[in-house]
This record gives sequence, C-alpha cells and structure tokens, in this order.
Amino acid sequence: MAIIEVEDVWKSFTNDGKTVDVLRGISFEVKKGETLCILGGSGGGKSTLLKVMIGAHPATRGKVKIDGTDIVGLSERDMNKVRRKFGVLFQSGALLNSMTVGQNVGLPIGFHTKQAAETIDIMVKVKLEQVGLLHAKDRLPAEISGGMQKRAGLARAIALDPKIVFYDEPSAGLDPIATAVIDELINDLKTKMGMTNVVVTHVMESVRRIADKVVMLDKGKVILYGTLDDLLNSTDPKIVNFVNGHIEAAQTDDESYQRFVNDLLI
Ligand SMILES: Nc1ncnc2c1ncn2[C@@H]1O[C@H](COP(=O)(O)OP(=O)(O)OP(=O)(O)O)[C@@H](O)[C@H]1O
Ligand SMILES: [Mg+2]
Repeated sequence: MAIIEVEDVWKSFTNDGKTVDVLRGISFEVKKGETLCILGGSGGGKSTLLKVMIGAHPATRGKVKIDGTDIVGLSERDMNKVRRKFGVLFQSGALLNSMTVGQNVGLPIGFHTKQAAETIDIMVKVKLEQVGLLHAKDRLPAEISGGMQKRAGLARAIALDPKIVFYDEPSAGLDPIATAVIDELINDLKTKMGMTNVVVTHVMESVRRIADKVVMLDKGKVILYGTLDDLLNSTDPKIVNFVNGHIEAAQTDDESYQRFVNDLLI
C-alpha cells in the first residue's frame, strides 16, 4: 500500500517578477515499510521536494498525499494532525544547545502528549537506547560528537513513533563510520519497526545500503524512478555519473526551511 503519493507536483518560486519552476511535474509513490532515496546533482530540486513533502513549502500544483491525506492547501490545524504521522531528521540534527540530549528527545513528547514527567523519561530512555545513546542522556549537545548529535536528532524524530521519517542529507558532515551507523539505524527502523523512510542523499554507499526504491531528479524532473537495481543497471550517462560518485556537493539550507525547523522544535 502506498503511504506517500506524489502526483504531478510543481513548485515555482517568483523573485523580482521572475518565475523559476524548480519542480516540474514530479510523480512517484512510497510503499509502507520501504526506504526511498531521493537523488540527484546539486540544484536538482531534492531539498525543495522534501520541503514540499513535509509541508514546509506549499506545492504550486499537484498533490502530496501522506497516509491518504492531500497536504497541499491543508489548514494549519489539519496539517498539525498529519505532522504527528512523520518525523524529520534535519541536516544539523537541530538540537537545542541549552538542553541535555534527553531533554531534547523529550521535547516533542511533552509538546504533543499529556504524559507525566516520569512516563516521558521512560519514553526518552527507550528512544535513546534504540539509537545507542542512553549513556549520553544527561550530556549537552556540544559535549558529544557530530555522529552522536545526528543520532540524538533521530531519537527525537522517532520519539512519537511516526509512520514515516524524512531525512535531508543525514550523513552530511559525518565520516564513513558515523555514516554507516546512521544507515544501520535507518535500516533498523524499517525492519524492526516497519517505518517508511524517505532519504535525500548524494552518498552512493548509503544508497547501496539503504535504498529499496530511488527517485533521481535532474533540473526539477524525475529522470529515474525504480529499484536500486534499476539505478545500478542504468546506462543513462547522467545516472552512471552519479552512481560512480561524480557529483557536486550539496548546498546549505535556506532561511524558510530554518524557520520551519524552529517551528517544529517549539
Ligand atoms: N526559496 C527559493 N527561492 C528561489 N529559488 C529557490 C528557493 N529554494 C530553492 N531554489 C532554487 O531551486 C533549485 C533547487 O534547489 P534545491 O535546494 O531543492 O536543490 P538540491 O537538489 O537540494 O541541491 P543540493 O544538492 O545543493 O542540496 C535551485 O536552483 C535553487 O536555487
Ligand atoms: Mg539540498
């Protein structure tokens, strides 16, 4: 069953009277319990697509159905209900520096539920254990490594047992070992918890480890939508180039995305 359906999505930005179509008719679906990787060179529209899928940017045209609900044009109130169905792991991990790792993970639980402090503490411990960070519960984000910060961000993203987890470049800034740890956690969420993962990445080793399906974007269009094998067996020069690792590095996130991140963290 498809838990995410993206149907003919367009996204245009207008600056100084000039309109740019960044996404131009994107369609694909993600089945429940599947990991889909969104791939492509820098500027292809990956982050924009992810932002449209989590409701941080409204689509200009088309449908984005999350667990059956089209989020395009949804009221803020209804969107908040849909937000409970997914978690997001942001590039930086996006932890609040003044709070301990445990308090960061407990934040969405306290915000969205009426659980007692002791119950929240138990839930936090379970999530930290799941990402191998129980020992760091009382540390501050600044006191742990980048890889551990990402894992803490993941623990927070899954704090309310979402059906779907979205990731934007989860291994940005990490070394190969920390990257492999994150990939293993992404696979665990799928196989042990039945979660659905949508991962924007340009790290081909990660794609080989985690992807069931892939969507490759180029200039705002899908140039490949298929299985990992379809990607590896493609003879399209652009795709072969990507598979061989010849791609430009990702750029940093924009301001509106940062605002959305802050909103989610209240
Ligand atoms: N808010 C915006 N206003 C105008 N143009 C934008 C905006 N956000 C993104 N774009 C443009 O959309 C295009 C796609 O950007 P996007 O960040 O989605 O690419 P990407 O595939 O994630 O790239 P990267 O690999 O560098 O992260 C770029 O040309 C970018 O300049
Ligand atoms: Mg990006």
